[in-house]
Amino acid sequence: MHKVLAAAILAPSAKNRQPWRFVVVADREKRAEMVRVMRAGIADTKAHGVNTGTAIMTARIMEGAPVTIFVFNPDGVHPWLPHPDEQSFMESFDTQSIGAAVQNMLIAAQDLGLGTLWMGDVWSAYRQLEAWLEEPGELVAAVALGFAAEQPPPRPRRPLSEVVRWL
Ligand SMILES: Cc1cc2nc3c(=O)[nH]c(=O)nc-3n(C[C@H](O)[C@H](O)[C@H](O)COP(=O)(O)O)c2cc1C
Repeated sequence: MHKVLAAAILAPSAKNRQPWRFVVVADREKRAEMVRVMRAGIADTKAHGVNTGTAIMTARIMEGAPVTIFVFNPDGVHPWLPHPDEQSFMESFDTQSIGAAVQNMLIAAQDLGLGTLWMGDVWSAYRQLEAWLEEPGELVAAVALGFAAEQPPPRPRRPLSEVVRWL
């Protein structure tokens, strides 16, 4: 796990802010608690009429993974609070930097023969996970790590001709 986290902090960051904090959940009891919190959060979000999409499937993968790493932006403002322009500007920088750190983790884990899942769905249980984790700042994403149960073929990609415009 050290190698995966060490790779994360090598990511480039806007203005070298290194705007990431990681909370690692590997303890068996804490993992069970985490999954309970995630599931309860998803149910509550759904009960409020919000589409939680694939979050329940994500929770199942989280449950099966021996390690989950939550990634926080320590300077992020709570997503439900207003964001003045300057804050939005900085948070965009920080979120891009965090994306690079998460990608580094995925690549390092893959190199070590591990399977990963990038879990944006933690947002479907945002309030509950935030309260449980007690980490200041904004929860951005989480990564599940473990031994891959399957090796699915690469997903199809939109061709370059569809996604690139040359001026
Ligand atoms: C920001 C981000 C958030 C994601 N969140 C989830 C998630 O919560 N649950 C999940 O099953 N997959 C999640 N994924 C994985 C994507 O579904 C997956 O990367 C995509 O379908 C493309 O497949 P590929 O990575 O195999 O190319 C996420 C990926 C990214 C980049």
